[in-house]
Amino acid sequence: MCGIVGYIGGRSALQVLVDGLRRLEYRGYDSAGVAYANGGAIGIHKTRGRIDDLQNILPNPMPEAKAGLGHTRWATHGAPSDRNAHPHSTGGIAVVHNGIIENYQQLKSRLIAEGHEFASDTDTEVIPQLISGYMRQGMPFEAAMRRAILELKGSYALGIMSVWSPGKVFAVRNGSPLVVGFGQGEYFFASDIPAFLPYTKKFSFMEDGQIFILSAGEAMLEYLDSDAGPGKGPAQTVPKIVEIGWTAEMAEKEGYDYFMLKEIYEQPKTVMETMREWLDNPLDMLPAMGITTRMILGLRRLHIAACGTSYHAALVGKYAVEGLAHIPVEVEIASEFRYKNLLIEKNSLFVSITQSGETADTLAAQREAAKKGAYTLTICNVVGSTASREADSVLYTRAGPEIGVASTKAFTAQIAALCLLAVALGVRRGRLIADEAETITAQLKKMPLLLEKALASGPRVKDIAATLDDARSMLYLGRGINYPIALEGALKLKEISYVHAEGYPAGEMKHGPIALIDKRMPVVVVIPMGSLFEKTLSNIEEVKARGARVIAVTDEPASLHGKADETISVPSTHPVLSPFVNVIPLQMLAFHAGVLRGNDVDKPRNLAKSVTVE
Ligand code: M6R
Repeated sequence: MCGIVGYIGGRSALQVLVDGLRRLEYRGYDSAGVAYANGGAIGIHKTRGRIDDLQNILPNPMPEAKAGLGHTRWATHGAPSDRNAHPHSTGGIAVVHNGIIENYQQLKSRLIAEGHEFASDTDTEVIPQLISGYMRQGMPFEAAMRRAILELKGSYALGIMSVWSPGKVFAVRNGSPLVVGFGQGEYFFASDIPAFLPYTKKFSFMEDGQIFILSAGEAMLEYLDSDAGPGKGPAQTVPKIVEIGWTAEMAEKEGYDYFMLKEIYEQPKTVMETMREWLDNPLDMLPAMGITTRMILGLRRLHIAACGTSYHAALVGKYAVEGLAHIPVEVEIASEFRYKNLLIEKNSLFVSITQSGETADTLAAQREAAKKGAYTLTICNVVGSTASREADSVLYTRAGPEIGVASTKAFTAQIAALCLLAVALGVRRGRLIADEAETITAQLKKMPLLLEKALASGPRVKDIAATLDDARSMLYLGRGINYPIALEGALKLKEISYVHAEGYPAGEMKHGPIALIDKRMPVVVVIPMGSLFEKTLSNIEEVKARGARVIAVTDEPASLHGKADETISVPSTHPVLSPFVNVIPLQMLAFHAGVLRGNDVDKPRNLAKSVTVE
């Protein structure tokens, strides 16, 4: 959902802003723009398209500005176009915005009645127009800005600059993520940390209702709605600065052509990083998350809410926790959870799963659960993100920055965290005997090796992807804990290759979807050896009998000889851990199908990495 950046300091602001925008382009790529201090005026360049298109319209050499704002857009209000590109400006005031101004229509009508003329179809433009309106009534710029912001309803992260406050840039947060980076006499702000990792590791995560007033030598943090009354004066506060462990290289492609491919191949490492702290003694993770033995013994139910790929991880978690700890688990899509009449009984644990920690629906679900009295735990990849700050406790995945819009390494890190949690809960509840817990943790310790073996199927998967060029639709089947893997495989294919795909529990096929099958329909079947092998084999026979081409992902290729048209071999592991190895070929299949179709797999159409609006 849109990325915003801002800079003030001694460097070439335009260079810093454009570099920062490139690292945020995964948040949206419909249009891009910059605003910068240009003598006594504000220079603005913006265009429909990507950061490369913006770079192409910038003056060469770039103007030597020392302060500015930038934006990369995922369109919400108003089509992708030059006129709807940010920054939006009027009367010497420029604004970039991530979020949605819910009352913009009402504000716009009022402003139009007062004689304001609008140049775009966006919700954002009401902000500079409002500020300028208050200035026309005689208010100084900063007071007008505060007054205008307090009238906005909805979610917003804003970058603001003005000819009326030279030498300053302003960062404002309410509901949309915003971090401020601290350098030597210079400051950066951005929707996400990777934007400025090459310049600083010190960041302050803004809270709702805060404004940073940044000048070359000073960063002042205030609450907009201060004790002095709304918009009346500063209520200063001291920013909490945290040092981030990520490096700039982690957010680079490091020789790969695509972030997605790099991230797929990083999984042996990122899964181990996620587990490292707990692997020798998973029980330690419970008190570290504030989960006491009393809570565990009294635990009646786990509620998990998440979106997209994180939702599929939640489903894997359900099978793992119910199987190993015998605790009932309800998994909900976060956007549904928030609008339900939630029945959270006493002694429930609520878990949100989110890579970014900024997904609006997941945050809303977490807040709702907290309001209903549940203890909230978030499984999250971004230190300092909103989910991690608001939850009662955090279990961090250590996947490092995930830049590819299609989530891969975050998924396996999430299921690693969930499997360890399931083991810990199982042992603490006395439902998982020590021997079994040890077998599982021993397999988890071997997981990097198993993932390397699964990744070795890359060339074979690429060959298979090349045979799918005329596929218009595909089915993904799985059973038990691998049903969510079928869902995830189908989601990856849809996102990256734009080929329609459905994930289905294999046994449910005959209740409807089997009608879709003919010889043009490739069917991917996840079929690990285990208690459901024979049943899934019958499902393969059923779809084969209707002419489908079957691609099987299995650790038992010999038994599928003559049954499946193609087999992709993965290593064997404990049944609860089979999703780790089975998802790898499905990620690669989607990747290659996307690349072979000429798609930009890192930035698939219509998508944005973090969905920070409802
Ligand atoms: O950051 P989150 O994990 O909360 O994001 C959730 C989904 O938006 C995300 O997984 C999305 O579905 C990805 N595009 C999947 O590849």
